Amino acid sequence: WQEINLGFHPIKWFPDAGPCAQAMGFPGQDPFGIGTKTYRKTGTARCPSLLWVLDIPGLSPKGVVIMQLFRTVKDLKDFVRTAKKEGKTIGLVPTMGALHEGHASLIKAAAKENDVVIVSDFVNPTQFGPSEDYDAYPRKLAADEKVAEAAGATAIFAPSPAEMYPHKDMTWVEVTGNITKVLCGRTRPIHFRGVATVCTKLFNLSQADRAYFGLKDAQQTEVLRRMVEDLFMNVELRIMPIVRESDGLAKSSRNVYLSPEERKAALILSRSLKHAKEAFAAGERDPRKLVDQVTAEIRTEPMSNIDYVELYGMPGLTEVTGPIDGRVLLAVAVKFGTTRLIEIGRASCRE
Ligand code: PAF
Repeated sequence: WQEINLGFHPIKWFPDAGPCAQAMGFPGQDPFGIGTKTYRKTGTARCPSLLWVLDIPGLSPKGVVIMQLFRTVKDLKDFVRTAKKEGKTIGLVPTMGALHEGHASLIKAAAKENDVVIVSDFVNPTQFGPSEDYDAYPRKLAADEKVAEAAGATAIFAPSPAEMYPHKDMTWVEVTGNITKVLCGRTRPIHFRGVATVCTKLFNLSQADRAYFGLKDAQQTEVLRRMVEDLFMNVELRIMPIVRESDGLAKSSRNVYLSPEERKAALILSRSLKHAKEAFAAGERDPRKLVDQVTAEIRTEPMSNIDYVELYGMPGLTEVTGPIDGRVLLAVAVKFGTTRLIEIGRASCRE
């Protein structure tokens, strides 16, 4: 027997990990092996149905990085209860899966600032309208696990819709007013109610100290900010910068739908917003002129089909009627083929 102090190590469950764990010489033991427990290493493995493998430098022959996968609310709650009891801080990265480098950067940021990082991986049905891409939305849990693990996640929470929405008559969380009616809210009237409802559930389940979102979904982050403030939620929202491809296209799970031609055409979004920013820096303060400039530039791309190009005051997405004198958001949503992409530019008179 050899005593090993694990410290705080994330653990991944392998339902069929018997031979693997046996080869590593660890018995299947406590499913919540988190904290400063001492484990005994032994050459024999008594294998329960679920086994753990460990990532201990120099001891793990496979160098396995370890992360837990939870499919049920109960398992996540048990995990969170243990982590909280041990005084760990929790970072939540809510996602709908199909993880890309943008998500990885959120997970990395969360791993830097928290002891535990929970990534939720759930294509949330309540934020999709009847004619939207809920069924077609990419679902890639196995690949997501690798991305999350490599970026430093402690756990993935990937529930079924029935697990998250157990009742037909259910509780909704809805932010009202301009903030959910303009931009995407105009064509997606139930979208932000679905986002607010699922995020409330995720914040409650994870008891996160901090939750991480990408700035690209600027309207979503404004809606969530308002919700957290209005409902006195104990979570700090951390809004992280947009991650881009080398050619400037903002990373998005929907980019996989673009044909090579559409992908090339979509570069008009970041380019036109960059030009608007340049015009702003050169002194343009007329909101109409900035909007018209971006609209005209996007229209030069024949594959583009504009949903909106709009400018609002920040915070709160307020109307800007006169010359710009504060912080503004210029947001665009444009379809290329059947794929709808969003992009934003921000500017401030006080920068
Ligand atoms: O931004 C997203 O991916 C989703 O809207 C979110 C926040 C995970 C809620 O389903």
